[in-house]
Amino acid sequence: MVGGGATVTLVPFANEHLEPFRALAQDPLVLRFTRFPDPLPLGFAEAWLARYEAGRAAGTMEGFAVLADGGFAGIAVVPEIDRSRGAAELGYAVSPELRGRGVAAAALALLTRWAFDDAGIARAELQIGAANEASKRVAANCGYWHDHTEPNVQVKPGRIEDTEHWVREQPVNSA
Ligand SMILES: CC(C)(COP(=O)(O)OP(=O)(O)OC[C@H]1O[C@@H](n2cnc3c(N)ncnc32)[C@H](O)[C@@H]1OP(=O)(O)O)[C@@H](O)C(=O)NCCC(=O)NCCS
Repeated sequence: MVGGGATVTLVPFANEHLEPFRALAQDPLVLRFTRFPDPLPLGFAEAWLARYEAGRAAGTMEGFAVLADGGFAGIAVVPEIDRSRGAAELGYAVSPELRGRGVAAAALALLTRWAFDDAGIARAELQIGAANEASKRVAANCGYWHDHTEPNVQVKPGRIEDTEHWVREQPVNSA
């Protein structure tokens, strides 16, 4: 998958990604538009990875590092897999120096394929802060549609904002 000339791939998030992840987690836009706590507590990256590893083992979460030409470029995550609904929530963040080149769109396309083909999910969902124009472009460019807006969501302590729910569904195989 190509993002602005770079080849974008997803690999399971692991210890080797912790260092660049720590830098990404401190980026102002990541703190503004994700559920990462602000300020980040000490040991946040390690605790985050441990949570994703436990979720991976339980089949309820998955976390990938996004690589562009083999180098760390961000994260593509599935913070919740709800098998009773056949649905999963997806999310992503790209390192600031690599933004604006289609890396997030390439990563979300791959993550959506993973959710449909590997995780067997029928409905992929995104929760996007209403002011997050770049993320909404990424969603639209990957074939997601704006389902509804939930007003006044407490995204994390101290931040309440309108949240847009974007959705893409696995086409039903009519064969
Ligand atoms: C959102 C984010 C992942 C986008 O990453 P990226 O690699 O730059 O995304 P892409 O290059 O694939 O696409 C960005 C799109 O947003 C558009 N865009 C960027 N900034 C914009 C802005 N301020 N207003 C409107 N559109 C904007 C770009 O033009 C592009 O759209 P286009 O391809 O239709 O022209 C990145 O900004 C980020 O990590 N933000 C912080 C974390 C975050 O918000 N994650 C998503 C949580 S829902």
